[in-house]
Amino acid sequence: MGSQGGKAPIHVFMVSFPGQGHVNPLIRLGKRLAAKGIFVTLSTAESHGFQMKKVNKNLSDEPTPYGSGTIRFKFIDDGWDYSKPEGNDLGLYIRHLESVGKQLLPQMIEEEEKQGRPVSCLINNAFIPWVSDIAETLGIPSAVLWVQSAASFSCYYHYMHQLATFPTESNPQLQLQLPGMPLLKHDEIPSFLHPSSPYTMLKKAILGQFEKLSNPFCILMDTFHELELDLVDQLSKICPIKTVGPLFMYPKLISPNGKDIRGDYFTSDSGIIQWLDSKSASSVVYISFGSIVMLKQEQIDELAYGLLNSGVNFLWVVKEPSVGTGYLPVKLPDGFLDKAGDRAKIVQWCPQEQVLAHPSLSCFLTHCGWNSTMEAISIGTPIIAFPQWGDQVLDAKYLVDVFKVGIQLCRGEDENRIIPREEVEKCVREATSGAKAAEMKENALKWKKVAEDAVADGGSSQQNLQAFIDDIVTKCT
Ligand code: UDX
Repeated sequence: MGSQGGKAPIHVFMVSFPGQGHVNPLIRLGKRLAAKGIFVTLSTAESHGFQMKKVNKNLSDEPTPYGSGTIRFKFIDDGWDYSKPEGNDLGLYIRHLESVGKQLLPQMIEEEEKQGRPVSCLINNAFIPWVSDIAETLGIPSAVLWVQSAASFSCYYHYMHQLATFPTESNPQLQLQLPGMPLLKHDEIPSFLHPSSPYTMLKKAILGQFEKLSNPFCILMDTFHELELDLVDQLSKICPIKTVGPLFMYPKLISPNGKDIRGDYFTSDSGIIQWLDSKSASSVVYISFGSIVMLKQEQIDELAYGLLNSGVNFLWVVKEPSVGTGYLPVKLPDGFLDKAGDRAKIVQWCPQEQVLAHPSLSCFLTHCGWNSTMEAISIGTPIIAFPQWGDQVLDAKYLVDVFKVGIQLCRGEDENRIIPREEVEKCVREATSGAKAAEMKENALKWKKVAEDAVADGGSSQQNLQAFIDDIVTKCT
């Protein structure tokens, strides 16, 4: 393994849209491929004010041994300035990135060839479907990493190809039945597909990938076969799908400089693990809404008092708004921290996988982004679902009704409804003690075992990953 015809290495060149929920699974996949002997280049754009390299100083442009392979990063300065008046316009940024990327990527690929490392396969994630056009033009095999669930993929696929009837302006409450999936109420369908969704740009960006699905020879998914069984079987009949998740879960290899390879855009606060160490087993609720979602100030206030009144310990990520989102900063209610005392730890960012796996953790109040969903399920953490938009509403439906590891605090249709403190308190109590909490924990631990088996030798994801690598080797020889 590791070379084409005994000369150049097998070189997988990965391109990620710069966003936490996109970069994390791509880096995780890159590590898995490198661990199996591949030379991996991880490339993403850096903008002024949004820089992964600044936070993770060990990410190197130099090839670094990892497992039996190699990893190196290629950061592109895309010249975008978030402080400009149009800096928060995601649509403009996506178009800007496309024009910069279409110019630079072929040059970078040519440079690799000159260096004796021709690119064997290009992999991209969402929002940058033009990468697979470049691959096709240059005659390089390409694959996509889908960073959401198979269920979410199915919704977008059926919408794009008009294979099912979705809610319309005249019938916004329409329910959706897709093969291999439960009946979805209108507010359980990825919200960008709803006629009243204000996020038209995000919808366009996601659907862009579905216009190009004939280019890639494989669609890798950060899920595992057993989790979305019928659906994956169903989708496999129409698309070249390989489930390879949970990607974060494979044995961790530490790079030679002694640090794990992570792509955080934010610096974790200190003292988090020590604080968790000081708490008793299963006593802490962890609250985080991923990298983008910001709740309204009024909702923060209600959440704060609901947590306080529930009597639990809690670790809460209250971050600054990400650049490029246009969200406003929020603050905790006056006097709240004094009242909560040592029961609360408020941070701006944390090492989430480590936090979820800590014995003090009881459950996770989450916006149900797919990365958070996969991390929680595979670690065996029960969920309080607080979805906001996009695929989060569908992930919440699955967590609660299909995987049966969660309870729902708010529904997608409630994006504008403020959930009062009494509901928060009731939900937190239900998820942390009593029969429902015990049932959720039992189910969560069952999924943990299934996830572990999927990534173990001979497991479904491990086999699919190996088959994907074998396919690349075959295409290169
Ligand atoms: C978004 C979407 O919500 C998600 O569904 C989609 O698949 C990708 O884009 P985001 O909202 O950031 O992502 O949520 P999520 O998918 O959960 O990803 C957040 C990542 O940040 C997770 O891997 C999580 O572990 C990490 N994180 C979050 C931290 O490491 N520390 C924190 O404090 C918070």
